Amino acid sequence: MKTLVIVTHPNIENSRINKAWMQALQNESTVTIHQLYNAYPDFKIDVAKEQELLMEHDRIVLQFPFYWYSSPSLLKEWFDVVLSYGWAYGEGGDKLRGKELGLAVSTFGPEQSYQHSGYNRYTMEELLKPFQATSNLIGTKFMTPYILNGVMHVNDEELARSTTDYVKFVTTQTVTVS
Ligand SMILES: Cc1cc2nc3c(=O)[nH]c(=O)nc-3n(C[C@H](O)[C@H](O)[C@H](O)COP(=O)(O)O)c2cc1C
Repeated sequence: MKTLVIVTHPNIENSRINKAWMQALQNESTVTIHQLYNAYPDFKIDVAKEQELLMEHDRIVLQFPFYWYSSPSLLKEWFDVVLSYGWAYGEGGDKLRGKELGLAVSTFGPEQSYQHSGYNRYTMEELLKPFQATSNLIGTKFMTPYILNGVMHVNDEELARSTTDYVKFVTTQTVTVS
């Protein structure tokens, strides 16, 4: 299985979590790492190139830090222009159908804050529904997301464990929710 990991972090040099996750994947022969902010600092996305890259892989993982209950803005732009009508959805838009789509998300808010009783008031499952809905529309199989909450309190040992789990998620997990 060939996996494309699209890393969208506007400041990866200063990242602790996403950088560690990404570095852990670097020796995986079946994984292609694609950093959106490095490729398109001007937000001018090469749609044909992105579509070609997607078609070459069986599993697509979108890795990003949670920003305002969603992804950093370049990933939203990527959705808007790459998942086009007649290609990803609509008449003849079946190019991603049958592939697997995964999310890997880090959050500042601790796990208990992403509960109905917590200060964020909604669960991660609820907040990530737009990604799942997109997956449904484009016909991909939505993997159970890989989430690391409360990053400020993740110590080095926990981060090492998380990177090991993340590599497993990217390279082997096959649990899908739809
Ligand atoms: C613009 C911005 C918006 C953010 N929004 C959220 C948010 O909605 N929820 C949350 O839990 N953390 C939020 N954060 C915190 C980031 O998710 C957190 O810093 C990141 O996951 C840490 O990963 P890194 O070490 O790879 O940078 C936000 C951070 C920034 C800079």
